[in-house]
Amino acid sequence: MSSGSPPSVPARVAGERYRALTREPGHRSIVVIDQRRLPHTHVLLTIDDAEVAAEAIRSMVVRGAPLIGAVGAYGLALALDRDASDGALSAAHAMLDATRPTAVNLRWALDRVRALVAALPVGARADAAWQEADAIYAEDVAINAALGGHGLELLRELAAAGHDPLNVMTHCNAGALATCGFGTATAPLFLAHALGIPLHVWVSETRPRMQGANLTAWELRQHGIPHTLVVDSASGLLMRRGDVDVVIVGADRVAANGDVCNKIGTYDKALAARDNDVPLWVALPSPTIDWTLDTGDRIPIEARAADEVLRIAGRADDGSAARVAIATEGTAAMNFAFDVTPARLVSRYITERGVANDARSLHDLHRGGAQ
Ligand code: MRU
Repeated sequence: MSSGSPPSVPARVAGERYRALTREPGHRSIVVIDQRRLPHTHVLLTIDDAEVAAEAIRSMVVRGAPLIGAVGAYGLALALDRDASDGALSAAHAMLDATRPTAVNLRWALDRVRALVAALPVGARADAAWQEADAIYAEDVAINAALGGHGLELLRELAAAGHDPLNVMTHCNAGALATCGFGTATAPLFLAHALGIPLHVWVSETRPRMQGANLTAWELRQHGIPHTLVVDSASGLLMRRGDVDVVIVGADRVAANGDVCNKIGTYDKALAARDNDVPLWVALPSPTIDWTLDTGDRIPIEARAADEVLRIAGRADDGSAARVAIATEGTAAMNFAFDVTPARLVSRYITERGVANDARSLHDLHRGGAQ
């Protein structure tokens, strides 16, 4: 593995640096990209209230496990600006925690801020919460860079084996938009591309919220990385044809036994990958590991509104925003947002501390020895 300072790559939109979340120094507010409007419109939203933060997470203005963790932490700081009593702290923690159940980063960030401030006098709590949220943000940026460096080494090895270009498949969006830095699953891709390693990315559209089509394709385009959008169900065919060298996905929660909970459809890709000898790499920051759960079967799977399956949103030919029904009115629909891929189907876990081949080495990397 490479050593020294972690590599970094600027995330850009129209030549300008873009970040899913920013906080101007000294401001008691944060600014986020409204991800519901991408890729057609780039709209920023100021969050200056805990309820607004909660709604932004719930409605997926912001999404992606590490990003919702950071927004949750800032949301708690905003709540404490108004009332830092014990009761208000518990109520704000509960409100933010209830927004989305699956990604453990949200609970992790909220617990971290609460544990810190609960030990302080009421008058010192809000400032301490802002500082802690800033620390969570900065750590996530550093995690992305370190994780990206480790993933880059794996990609180099694969490229050296003669894959030119390297055909990578990804699912959902685990990019800069899902994090505070330049992503988890995409971080090695951005670095490899910046270093001239020829890449092509298969982007699966990711029904029903279309994070692949709307967000990952947008990000790859900003970076000039060749990519092709495919329907989710094309993955098996592409792998069987030998058109995929590696599948790289992010994670929303990883259990202690290495089971990986990620966007719905990941498990199908993992099965197709195993059947076709395609490696499946999971990129995960350590706050995504839930050591309290022995297996992935205990991870709560978010079920979202059926309407997200029954209607599809996009831009009409005349440029207007459109939302259309795709099934007969009254059709029953189910909308599970995540699935669990058993550890046996995962070839590599890429973390900020290095690469693990299995749950035991993941444990040793993160909990073994002196940390
Ligand atoms: O429902 P979302 O969009 O918040 O889902 C999160 C994701 O984008 C993914 O599952 C991702 O791979 C993990 S977050 C880096």
